[in-house]
Amino acid sequence: MAAMTIAKLQKMKQQGQKISSLTAYDASFAKLMTEQGVDFMLVGDSLGNVVQGLSSTVPVTMDDMVYHTQLVRRGAEQAFVIADMPFMSYATSEQTYRNAAELMQAGANMVKLEGGHWLIETIQGLTTRGVPVCAHLGLLPQSVNVLGGYKVQGKQQQQADDTLAQALELEQAGAQLLVLECIPAALGKRITEALSIPTIGIGAGPDTDGQILVMHDMLGMNSDYLPKFAKNFLAETGSLSGAFSSYVEQVQRGEFPAAEHCYS
Ligand code: KIV
Ligand code: NA
Repeated sequence: MAAMTIAKLQKMKQQGQKISSLTAYDASFAKLMTEQGVDFMLVGDSLGNVVQGLSSTVPVTMDDMVYHTQLVRRGAEQAFVIADMPFMSYATSEQTYRNAAELMQAGANMVKLEGGHWLIETIQGLTTRGVPVCAHLGLLPQSVNVLGGYKVQGKQQQQADDTLAQALELEQAGAQLLVLECIPAALGKRITEALSIPTIGIGAGPDTDGQILVMHDMLGMNSDYLPKFAKNFLAETGSLSGAFSSYVEQVQRGEFPAAEHCYS
């Protein structure tokens, strides 16, 4: 299979083809999901929750991210892999450049940062130095202690307008992809139409250019909690490969997310 690239993801947006992506943390799952047609993988700092059993992503370290990025790359050489920069690893420009370099050298094709306006210079600095950036707006899990919990963002008109304005700024600064987490579907649509870079939603409605889910959520691995925006594709299909391929198909056909997975 030919390597996936940011240029191909950009083209998918232009042609109206939905992008399907999942988080991945190890070689075996990375291989399997790539074989089933998942367009790209994110080594998410959600590994703190689903792999390490923590209650937030705040304690996740650069060493953790480097290790899991290496594993994912080993399982899927041709895949497009994004690695999260963990909490406080992009607070100063020196830290940012050193840490982003480590993730790229571990096998990432792009790094992801959480935040809006304050990241403008960081994004310009990274992209001009050869590190592609995925931005992340809406619910920012690394800021859970500021937000006071995991809540839907951008429900009030002013907050929605502000999120759109920041999305445009991030694109202008050089971000090449934007993750939108837990926002009303109407805002997901508005931002997607306003930007020329692909938007990837998780709990952001059906109209973003692509979708992402945490692998453990879409396999229903937590028996006492399934987020509203996720669906158990393993229960629906009965096999891991079936779960991944069905997810890809349902995203491509616009069947996932359905209304019940969205915020209004
Ligand atoms: O860490 C993660 O899994 C993420 C996704 C929720 C986008 O950032
Ligand atoms: Na993350």
